[in-house]
Amino acid sequence: MACLKASQDIIDDSLYKTGLIENHVTPVRKSKPPDYLMENEAESIRLEVKTRPEAVRKQALWSGLKPGLRVLDAGCGPGKVTSILHEIVQPGGSVLGVDYSEERIFHANERYGHKPGIDFQLHDLRDPLEGVGQFDVIWARFVLEYNLLESPEIVKNLTACLKPNGYLCLLDLDHNCLSYYQLPPKMEKVLFNLMARLEKEYNFDPYSGRKLYAYLYDLGYQNVQTEVSTHNLIFGKVKKEDLFNWTKKVEVASIKAKELFVNYPGGCDGFFADFIKFFEDPRRFTYTPLILCKGMKPVSD
Ligand SMILES: C[S@@+](CC[C@H](N)C(=O)[O-])C[C@H]1O[C@@H](n2cnc3c(N)ncnc32)[C@H](O)[C@@H]1O
Repeated sequence: MACLKASQDIIDDSLYKTGLIENHVTPVRKSKPPDYLMENEAESIRLEVKTRPEAVRKQALWSGLKPGLRVLDAGCGPGKVTSILHEIVQPGGSVLGVDYSEERIFHANERYGHKPGIDFQLHDLRDPLEGVGQFDVIWARFVLEYNLLESPEIVKNLTACLKPNGYLCLLDLDHNCLSYYQLPPKMEKVLFNLMARLEKEYNFDPYSGRKLYAYLYDLGYQNVQTEVSTHNLIFGKVKKEDLFNWTKKVEVASIKAKELFVNYPGGCDGFFADFIKFFEDPRRFTYTPLILCKGMKPVSD
């Protein structure tokens, strides 16, 4: 699978050398739609590399995190973000990170699970959380976008373990991976078809961000506030971590719909090579809108 090798060849730092992707999708259960679109053996590393601590801190402060709070990090990934939230709630606070990937929870425990007040647990957010108690703040960042069909159900499950007057903070992307200039028309066509395919067959929601407000509105949340900022604002000389993140995204997504490349010059490999060329061009401009939305759980009558 030559097209997969390309993203490795462009990264020289050994941190990024992660081997070929062999496990693309690891279903947790067969009765539900396909699980995490980005599942691959390099995923914890991709998430670690792309996480910008200063951006997470800013988002967490906007979300109302402060010392002493008990926080749930829903869909915590490899734990890097959880560890930042944990720092913010010190002294006296605690964070529980949950994720349905065994690999991510293992990584999180190994790397970040040694301090008091930080724990990780395997859980599929599509099921109610039981035995975890109630939280002052629940935070879900870049998670609903992978659960197109079940996002409302997940928000309900999270609400059930939030204290009355506690805050639910949802952070997700909108127009995800869809804003580039200047993509050659042949590439644009393939990328848009690819995103449509992921939406239809892999439960991926490229428009998750714009839906967050309605999720909170529908459940009667109060004092709902939103903010729009940019994620992945990329122009000029590309950073190594951005190139790694984006080529991994295209690589993982493109294996899921190989037939879209049949008419592309050079097939999948040709597309991949053109994408890297586009991304390395300092004239290229790309961005993704990030929507932040928080609301207070009403005290029930
Ligand atoms: C893009 S990562 C985001 C990780 C972290 N929240 C962050 O901000 O960097 C998405 C994570 O959500 C997890 N995830 C997606 N759907 C989930 C679900 N239904 N239940 C539990 N975890 C889920 C994936 O396994 C993955 O680790």
